[in-house]
Amino acid sequence: MTENTLDITQIRKDFPILNRKVNGNPLIYFDNAATSQTPKQVIDTIVDYYSNYNANIHRGVHALAQEATEAYEGARTKIQHFFNAAKAHEIIFTSGTTHSINLVANGFTAFLKKGDEVLVSAMEHHSNIVPWQMLCERTGASLKVIPMSKEGELLMDSYRDLLSDRTKLVVCNHVSNALGTINPIQELITLAHDAGAAVLIDGAQSSPHIKVDVQKLDVDFYTASAHKLCGPTGIGMLYGKSAWLAKLPPYQGGGEMIAEVTFEKTTYADLPYKFEAGTPNISGGIAFGAALDYLNSIGIEAIEDYEHDLLIYATKQLSEIEGVKIYGTSKNKTAVISFNIQGIHPYDMGTLLDKMGIAVRTGHHCAQPVMDYYKIPGTIRASFSFYNTKEEINRFIEAVIKAKKMLR
Ligand code: ALA
Repeated sequence: MTENTLDITQIRKDFPILNRKVNGNPLIYFDNAATSQTPKQVIDTIVDYYSNYNANIHRGVHALAQEATEAYEGARTKIQHFFNAAKAHEIIFTSGTTHSINLVANGFTAFLKKGDEVLVSAMEHHSNIVPWQMLCERTGASLKVIPMSKEGELLMDSYRDLLSDRTKLVVCNHVSNALGTINPIQELITLAHDAGAAVLIDGAQSSPHIKVDVQKLDVDFYTASAHKLCGPTGIGMLYGKSAWLAKLPPYQGGGEMIAEVTFEKTTYADLPYKFEAGTPNISGGIAFGAALDYLNSIGIEAIEDYEHDLLIYATKQLSEIEGVKIYGTSKNKTAVISFNIQGIHPYDMGTLLDKMGIAVRTGHHCAQPVMDYYKIPGTIRASFSFYNTKEEINRFIEAVIKAKKMLR
């Protein structure tokens, strides 16, 4: 696929922030794995909500409340279709992937006991490690790690060996935020189910870049964060199969999640409201839906092809720079390049790139076990989106070469 397949010039006009300068240079935004930028269609949706129909949902009979409720529930349906869930009530609004994972981990307290095992991959973000450690501490279950190779790929034979009738849960990211690896989750899910275990997949880094079909995957739980999908921060989703969501206890108590309350006993609301206590992020939910409309208008498959082209282009150029080492060299990758340059601390490189208007992330990327595995303090991470261009990559490469000369 060539750049011409997507009208990038036109697409870039949708993102006001891409016109700004940083330290006197035009912004090059290569920190998309941390958060994506927001198109004006999404910004306008938020402004429209607060300007025209700001109201609490599911509560009032007045016109504004009904309009807001309709828009919020409409967004839930958009999310359902985006991930191809069977039912709208299988989509729970959360504040993001971290909240989604904690909701499930908390719910599993009732289902685990000493001797049970939770398998987690070696390349997880802290948000897909810590909640499971806390769950194991509460229940006496053990956390086991699916190891990975130097290329940043899961060792599937070791995974098969780890699976047993003690395995109750397998949790893994679809795409590693630190390495960009696309994990073989279909195989991982099938094997887990054969062993009788449930599976949660962290989709924070995959959903903006790869078509996801939760029914085809037959996954039990899948998570996403709107702010990585061109939506706002503070809103995300948990997909759960109806049967699992019905079994899990509520995460938080409060308004909205109840059927009936007396001082003696409370009964809970039906799905999805059982998991949505309190007034939610209404404008965020509606804008999440608008962001998915925007991505659909471009097409996830077209985005995937275009970004892959950027990845190949940037990887080739970066590899030609003397002293560069790329971490995560799996054949199946999204457009994330984590790298270091011999003798240069990632923070120093990140600071100089910023001076030249280029935003990358430096550090451990909330994946310290991955950094420990490679015995490094961190990396420089460039992560691309469909609004980035090869011209920006050329400028980035020139900037890396310049910064390297200054630092060595
Ligand atoms: N999880 C986000 C990242 O990888 C914040 O940068």
